[in-house]
Amino acid sequence: MADWWDADGRRHRKQFSTSSAAREYEHRETALAHAERASREMKLAARSSGSSKRAKAVEDTGTIDAAKGKLGVMIPGMGAVATTFVAGVEAIRKGLAKPIGSLTQMGTVRLGKRTDGRSPKVKEFVPLAGLDDLVFTGWDIFEDNMYEAASKAGVLDQRLLDQLKPFLSTVAPRAAVFDHNYVKKIDGPNKKKGKSKMELAEQLRDDIREFKKTSGATRLITMWCGSTESYIEPTEAHQSLKAFEKALQENDEMIAPSMIYAYASLMEGVPFANGAPNLTVDLPVMLELSRKNEAPICGKDFKTGQTLMKTVLAPAFKARLLGLSGWYSTNILGNRDGEVLDDPGSFKTKEESKLGVLEHILQPGLYPELYGNMFHKVRINYYPPRGDNKEGWDNIDIFGWLGYPMQIKVDFLCRDSILAAPIVLDLVLFLDLAQRCSDLRGLGIQEWLSFYFKSPMTVPGLYPEHDLFIQLMKLKNTLRHLKGEELITHLGLEYYD
Ligand SMILES: NC(=O)c1ccc[n+]([C@@H]2O[C@H](COP(=O)([O-])OP(=O)(O)OC[C@H]3O[C@@H](n4cnc5c(N)ncnc54)[C@H](O)[C@@H]3O)[C@@H](O)[C@H]2O)c1
Repeated sequence: MADWWDADGRRHRKQFSTSSAAREYEHRETALAHAERASREMKLAARSSGSSKRAKAVEDTGTIDAAKGKLGVMIPGMGAVATTFVAGVEAIRKGLAKPIGSLTQMGTVRLGKRTDGRSPKVKEFVPLAGLDDLVFTGWDIFEDNMYEAASKAGVLDQRLLDQLKPFLSTVAPRAAVFDHNYVKKIDGPNKKKGKSKMELAEQLRDDIREFKKTSGATRLITMWCGSTESYIEPTEAHQSLKAFEKALQENDEMIAPSMIYAYASLMEGVPFANGAPNLTVDLPVMLELSRKNEAPICGKDFKTGQTLMKTVLAPAFKARLLGLSGWYSTNILGNRDGEVLDDPGSFKTKEESKLGVLEHILQPGLYPELYGNMFHKVRINYYPPRGDNKEGWDNIDIFGWLGYPMQIKVDFLCRDSILAAPIVLDLVLFLDLAQRCSDLRGLGIQEWLSFYFKSPMTVPGLYPEHDLFIQLMKLKNTLRHLKGEELITHLGLEYYD
């Protein structure tokens, strides 16, 4: 039995023999329903705009509050990604480095026609918090402050870290909510104690209120940069706020630590982004709470190295109707994240997040001759000598005209946290923007931020967009929409009028 929701929010139920048949059906039906609705809306719009060929500027945009005061960034998990992000922000503030890889800092957005010559920087187009306004705190099971943790992570040059030491040493970890059953490969001394998971949530809420008060922040964001937790599936406890709070009181083992951070944040009205593949906020209870308290959510799993490449290459194959018979991806990785992922439970969570990408982009249900029989495998191997400098190999077997086979090999010698840090920065600034926008703050899931995630969240029944360039267009069109600018469709007929 599977449920799916159509574009108008109606729920449908149908019996299937296998779960993949159910998924395929769900994807096809959802896509068709959305296409039908889009076509209905376009017809309506054409009727109401008379004979004009140009898209009308959006008139009913809401309000955006100004980014006044400090923005507090709270990070559960002060490891490689978190420290590379915070040290990076401080280095940029001091003029020691540039925010390379950050759309909010270096990106532009085209407005109007190609001939208009209007392409402001994203940060000048929408009111984002400035880097000077960011203040930080975090939680970790280890007692190292940000300077010590960054030195151990070994991502950034020690000379740069030493220049930033006075600032980084001031960010010390608060005691974490941790459960060894969810992250088997590590343990540490800096943990909260409480009789129930509800009590732990209350302690986190106290931390949040205390940080807001002492830092003087006017707004807050929580960004999960903690380890990948063991794979679990949603249960009854995750279906509503009432059930979840009862489960917190009763110490239900299906409530992972990351969910307790998410609950505490959303209860405090603080937006939450999930950089790991854990369920965390991808649950009905969190959507309910997010909407109720107007605290936007997004996730999951930062799209940094191998999956970034996958979501660039796979759309190219589909665009040219090239078939795919197999995609084998393997990685060697030697940082603490690699060690955690060496545990089968944590790896399964990551594997699920990495595997979904191809099916959604290539749509084997719509193109059975091209993608109906593809073999997709993902491996991660812990290999300490490489540290944070991951190597990701891909062997891709494709076929073309008359079925003739070809191969592509990708060998990406990347730096995991260097790729992740600008994503963290953009998510912090965009989630804060979302909470200040009357159009976005009550929506819950911020699908326009899919661009940053391997496994983007959507409302139940709606399949996620994985194609990087569709995701970017969605993001920039959302910004245009917020500011009442014309959406860019790339139709371009007006140049030939
Ligand atoms: N670096 C990337 O490119 C990338 C990409 C996608 C996702 N991620 C995910 O981001 C997360 C962080 O990656 P990283 O490389 O910084 O890992 P890391 O191991 O260096 O840091 C994670 C930190 O989280 C802490 N931690 C674990 N459970 C905690 C809890 N319950 N409360 C507080 N702290 C906790 C650990 O002690 C550790 O210091 C991982 O889940 C990783 O899978 C990273």
